[in-house]
Amino acid sequence: MKFFVDSAEIDKIKELAETGMVDGVTTNPSLILKSGRDITEVTKEICALVPGPVSAETVATDAEGMVTEGRKLAEIADNIAIKVPLTWAGLKACKVLSDEGRMVNVTLCFSANQALLAAKAGATFISPFIGRLDDINLDGMDLIQDIRTIYDNYGFKTEILAASIRTVNHITQAALIGADVATAPPDVLKKLADHPLTDKGLDAFLKDWAKTGQTIV
Ligand code: E4P
Repeated sequence: MKFFVDSAEIDKIKELAETGMVDGVTTNPSLILKSGRDITEVTKEICALVPGPVSAETVATDAEGMVTEGRKLAEIADNIAIKVPLTWAGLKACKVLSDEGRMVNVTLCFSANQALLAAKAGATFISPFIGRLDDINLDGMDLIQDIRTIYDNYGFKTEILAASIRTVNHITQAALIGADVATAPPDVLKKLADHPLTDKGLDAFLKDWAKTGQTIV
């Protein structure tokens, strides 16, 4: 499973990228607002921090506008994935941009049929939003499973990018189903390594080691 950082905050992305575990980054207009940065400048910096895809979102609502914005965003760096919303205009823009050989991430996906359309439009990534479905008492993970089944039924190469992740359990469940990518906020990704028994065990080992009076180097 690939890990993308869902953030536009340079310090947090950098800290995680240094672990070697980060395969890409996703941003959206709300995350750009939260960063307080200019979209072009911050996206360029992010693209230099990670080798993999960095999703930058279009904001036009018509296909032509999305294509124009997408081409402009793609000029920022070679690893830009253009994000378009799952509307008919977004699907149309996805087809044009993916036919040009560009990476396209179709976002705001909330149904299996939407995901089917995105795959047919040539999307590189489909972003089903798990947390926002859970928020309205649906099960976001059911959607990940349905998309996995449908894509496997037809051999679609579009990667399932599990998004709107709120907990480490979301990542476990998405990985068990076979989502290709999980994009999660930095604090959730950092929690992946945590376990109280690891902390307790390490503490005991270090105390015993100190009693041996030995050194390794
Ligand atoms: C993904 O690309 C989205 O930016 C993100 O996962 C949305 O998450 P949210 O529902 O927590 O805002």
